[in-house]
Amino acid sequence: MRLEDRVAVVTGGGSGIGKAICEGFAQEGAKVVINDLELATAEATLKGLSGSDHLAVAGDVTDSPRIAAIFAEVEERYGRCDILVNNAGVDRTPGDGSDRIAETGSMLLGMSDEGFRRMLDIHLNGAFYCAREAVRIMLKGSRDSRDARGSIINLSSIAGLAGLGVVHYATAKGGVLGFTRSLARELGPRGIRVNAICPGVIQTPMLEAVPEALIEPMIASTPLRRVGEATEIATTALYLASNDSSYVTGQWISPNGGIHIQ
Ligand SMILES: NC(=O)c1ccc[n+]([C@@H]2O[C@H](COP(=O)([O-])OP(=O)(O)OC[C@H]3O[C@@H](n4cnc5c(N)ncnc54)[C@H](O)[C@@H]3O)[C@@H](O)[C@H]2O)c1
Repeated sequence: MRLEDRVAVVTGGGSGIGKAICEGFAQEGAKVVINDLELATAEATLKGLSGSDHLAVAGDVTDSPRIAAIFAEVEERYGRCDILVNNAGVDRTPGDGSDRIAETGSMLLGMSDEGFRRMLDIHLNGAFYCAREAVRIMLKGSRDSRDARGSIINLSSIAGLAGLGVVHYATAKGGVLGFTRSLARELGPRGIRVNAICPGVIQTPMLEAVPEALIEPMIASTPLRRVGEATEIATTALYLASNDSSYVTGQWISPNGGIHIQ
């Protein structure tokens, strides 16, 4: 098994891509810490995992003290943290103007300060709080650049690569790539790899809120002519979490069916 006895924290693990990643990691022997906003959501994922000694924890990734408390619990329970997946995310925020587009004709013009700020808060501040705590634990173990056991995986998007979608989301996901590259340089010498995944259009509850009329043209312009499955992102995360990618850091991988080719 590729993640035997490794401890992995997955934020937003109660749904969609995060849930599939938790399942994939557990099948490969990891002990998985599943975070989500509601405990019941995280526990629902936990119930479906193979193996044992997993943990479900509630917490908003934008709540820095709560995130510190979660990682303190991880350290106390397992004594280690090998993998962090910064997956928690949203594609809309209250006040982002998506309900006023007919009136304003522009997402930018209809977007409130708070609508923009909340998006950055979840994807950037949240990833920062989690990475800071995870790295604090990771660095306590002995690592060097040939020990590929420390791995941070950040969920960006083709929106972050190509400016697709709404401005606050594309901005946040672009920021995730900068965060990934900088951390990879800083942490590589300490044996921690940092990479990003930039999914295309993936069938999850997030996508269910998008009207069919918008999805059809996206499928038509996708060379593989379909949306992706959450498991197809989970296999990418497994590659980046495991020693299979031991010489890969500071990179992004984009499973997207060819909708974005760079
Ligand atoms: N589905 C896609 O097409 C797609 C494409 C590119 C990137 N992504 C990214 O992949 C990640 C997962 O998306 P998904 O499609 O599985 O969405 P999803 O809505 O199915 O799951 C997201 C999970 O994150 C949780 N979450 C949201 N805000 C949180 C917070 N502040 N703290 C803790 N948990 C929080 C939600 O409760 C939910 O369980 C996101 O970062 C998303 O931006 C998705």
